[in-house]
Amino acid sequence: MASTPQALPGGPARRARPAGVLGGAPLSRIAGPGEALGLVASELHEAESELRRLVMSEVAAVPAVAGYLVEAGGKRLRPALTALGARAVGDSAPIGKLMCVGELIHLGSLLHDDVVDDADTRRGLAATHTVYGSAVTVLTGDFCLARAVLLASVEGGHQAVTALGAAVTAMAEGEVLQLQRAGDLSCSLQQYTDVIQKKSAALIAWCAAAAAYRVGDADAAHALEIYGRGAGIAFQITDDVLDYRQGTGKTAGADLRERKVTLPLLHAMERIDGLREELEAGAPEDIPGLIARIQESGALDAALADARSQLDIAIEALHALPPSEGRDALEVLGHYLVERAQ
Ligand code: IPE
Ligand code: IPE
Ligand code: MG
Ligand code: MG
Repeated sequence: MASTPQALPGGPARRARPAGVLGGAPLSRIAGPGEALGLVASELHEAESELRRLVMSEVAAVPAVAGYLVEAGGKRLRPALTALGARAVGDSAPIGKLMCVGELIHLGSLLHDDVVDDADTRRGLAATHTVYGSAVTVLTGDFCLARAVLLASVEGGHQAVTALGAAVTAMAEGEVLQLQRAGDLSCSLQQYTDVIQKKSAALIAWCAAAAAYRVGDADAAHALEIYGRGAGIAFQITDDVLDYRQGTGKTAGADLRERKVTLPLLHAMERIDGLREELEAGAPEDIPGLIARIQESGALDAALADARSQLDIAIEALHALPPSEGRDALEVLGHYLVERAQ
């Protein structure tokens, strides 16, 4: 098994981290993300095996390419959200396959995203397209998306598959919008938020609400969608902050190189005189130097504070659900999404 630099604590094939280390001051009895995930450890284990089965194909290149990314690790955040969402709505039917829907969509989007972003590394390894080439990587991404839709239909039913179609549509729109805006330093906070809601938060919301769709609990689905959207926005803001840091399993400064206007850069352009004009003039040459200036400006801390505000909105939505360990664990996992280092 390859190293798993982006590991969440508590799941199989993930680096262990003691429970409670993030200290997210939970209202719940659950001490930290390790304990939250421990609640659904057997489901995560089952989903891990299912995932490997789901990327099987008689076309040998497909499991080779998809399996490369599966084995590289990752946090398995989306399956965890589906399992905890099921606990929060009292859905006790087998959940392992439904948990894989979000991860398969995520895998497809990562395969595509690294081609689009021309990324070098992913999950601590060479990005898939740099190993297998872009054509087969994109097509294997399509396979993952299609497999996920089939699975959602069988495992989740009509409402789940309809909502998934809307989420994947939004993801594609978000990625296209972001691509078109790369290098446009006039991108506003509203435009940035629109992009991240579409490209990342829509799928996270679906994952949290998947079991609620399956059991037909519309009120719970609504609450979990709001939770997932807020948590997903907070998660992507944090991802955008982590782009300015080393040791994430991805290349630091990749967004800056592409002059992608993310929230840290929006804050930095407000704080550093002349930065906007400097970037408007062309791609930055001294990326490490620029990262250091942006860090010193306090822009990253300001973006993380915004992420925490989004998370507060997300957690508020959980109060519409009856008290349960699953609900409490979603709250704790939400804090982890912002406080994580990978
Ligand atoms: C990375 O997602 C892509 C984004 C939507 C920001 P994750 O940070 O969940 O990636 P893995 O699954 O842990 O590798
Ligand atoms: C990717 O956003 C979102 C999707 C994969 C849909 P990013 O481009 O910020 O993700 P990373 O940083 O490459 O993981
Ligand atoms: Mg990317
Ligand atoms: Mg990123």
